Amino acid sequence: TDYAITVDPSATGAAIDDTMYGVFYEDINRAADGGLYAELVQNRSFEYSTADNASYTPLTSWTADGTAEVVNDEGRLAERNRNYLSLGAGSSVTNAGYNTGIRVEKGKTYDFSVWARAENGTTLTVTLRDAAGTLAKVRQVAAKGQWRKYTATFTATRTSNRGRLAVATTAPAALDMVSLFPRDTYKGQPGGLRKDLAEKIEDLDPGFLRFPGGCLVNTGSMEDYSADSGWQRKRSYQWKDTIGPVEQRATNANFWGYNQSYGLGYYEYFRFAEDIGAMPLPVVPALVTGCGQNKAVVDDALLKRHIQDTLDLIEFANGPVTSTWGKKRAQMGHPKPFHLTHLEVGNEENLPVEFFERFKEFRAAIEAKYPDVTVVSNSGPDDAGSTFDTAWKLNREAGVEMVDEHYYNSPQWFLQNNDRYDSYDRNGPKVFLGEYASQGNAWKNALSEAAFMTGLERNADVVKLASYAPLLANEDYVQWSPDLIWFNNHASWNSANYEVQKLFMNNVGDRVVPSKATGTPNVSGPITGAVGLSTWATSAAYDDVKVTSAQGTTLLSDDFSGDASQWKHSGAGSWSVRDGEYVQTDAAAENTLVTAGDPAWKDYDLHVRATKKSGK
Ligand code: AHR
Repeated sequence: TDYAITVDPSATGAAIDDTMYGVFYEDINRAADGGLYAELVQNRSFEYSTADNASYTPLTSWTADGTAEVVNDEGRLAERNRNYLSLGAGSSVTNAGYNTGIRVEKGKTYDFSVWARAENGTTLTVTLRDAAGTLAKVRQVAAKGQWRKYTATFTATRTSNRGRLAVATTAPAALDMVSLFPRDTYKGQPGGLRKDLAEKIEDLDPGFLRFPGGCLVNTGSMEDYSADSGWQRKRSYQWKDTIGPVEQRATNANFWGYNQSYGLGYYEYFRFAEDIGAMPLPVVPALVTGCGQNKAVVDDALLKRHIQDTLDLIEFANGPVTSTWGKKRAQMGHPKPFHLTHLEVGNEENLPVEFFERFKEFRAAIEAKYPDVTVVSNSGPDDAGSTFDTAWKLNREAGVEMVDEHYYNSPQWFLQNNDRYDSYDRNGPKVFLGEYASQGNAWKNALSEAAFMTGLERNADVVKLASYAPLLANEDYVQWSPDLIWFNNHASWNSANYEVQKLFMNNVGDRVVPSKATGTPNVSGPITGAVGLSTWATSAAYDDVKVTSAQGTTLLSDDFSGDASQWKHSGAGSWSVRDGEYVQTDAAAENTLVTAGDPAWKDYDLHVRATKKSGK
């Protein structure tokens, strides 16, 4: 045979940690609001602003009938929840939800709530309907006096993806936190997570959960960090903004161009990690921003505050209920610790020198108080050349325990770099591959990632953690593609890449069994997908190659009796074939099959059969 794999079961390879494969959750592509966070009302606290997105107003996603004015004054519900709605007598507002609208399912229960203030009392009428009529019985809520929370329950009489939630008042009233949650959330947690999405993540059986970003962590300019700055938008991501009662939490401009409510905050992330059996791995901002901003903040007091916040975060996660921040965790419902063992400082920092000055201060403070916590550092983006090298040099010199690497490359790159970690220094920092993806959600991308992951696993003594990125994408609000799990307001679906991640995460071995491959694989026999077709199909080593669709239609064939390079069409040529299908060859010499009349590029399963000249 041309190809052999030799396995030596008696040899001892690297041990593979149970935490090796995990997930990287970032609030990108509306992963939180309109996604994993099950809230059905968009802009529930009237906080949308042009600082989040130039197209926003405080009434984005709302339509008003009558007098409706968003107010920002001393009468507000909470210090960090700046705006509220002032609704005139006989007026109403209607919310459009996300995607096509509010999704409700026949027979299911929905919990409505609103904070209201109506000095002389009023009756609020709450209606859930779509263009075809009422979806759930109208509820009435009587409000009187100072801010108070009022609730009502709906049972949907029909299923709809286009629901609208309307609130009308008989007398003048102030409203805030207009909310509608499905009762049926992940693990039935009130105000919790969308079940299908949370369960898809749980099904992966991830070893860790990295959160909340990504570039998101370094949102905006650091000067706005201070409370004295008037709670402006584009504050850097501060975990303390995201805990406590939801009506008291801030909202913020999300790095990816929308508003983030922080309804899904640090407590919820820790609890989710615990629920899915994953090690929590938060990322905190380091006062240096990569992600295209390339800015280092020189402000010692600010740095000290960030460092103190990070120490407080560890206390929030692990401290006893008698500690300041452990008590807050207990008050939120979790007296037991969350067992934080790893924490990352900074994300994709490409000002390595400036980053290191700050990183070292974070690390010294954390290690002094919590010597058991692993402080993860950064390498900056892999394609940044000398910056990447400088970062690694500094990481090595500083004796850093673990370094986060990121890369997004072509499937070919992943196939060609299977040996990337074979040569990494065994005595240097361990690798956390915090973000990677081959550029696409097609089968070939998933396959190339699987191939690459065998290289990660072979080097499990160096690569300790690895996560695909990004995890979630709402199909109507995409800033980054490809992604692992896709969804809209009523459905979610897995990518081929998801299946690869699931395969590896559900089957983590204990130890690598060393193996050796020799020779060149014999490509005879059916191969699914167009992997490497243009390379070997032109080889003089074959005298018959056939490509068929999954249905058996012959799409291409060549016996190489004529011009052996005819496979390598790189121009605009397209070939008509049978059954309304045709093959078009793009400039990169990758064959993509598209259906006639459908201009969108799609990937199909192709079966390739080749006969070697030797007859094998
Ligand atoms: O995963 C998407 C983005 O890619 C992350 O926010 C960032 O860290 C990287 O550039």
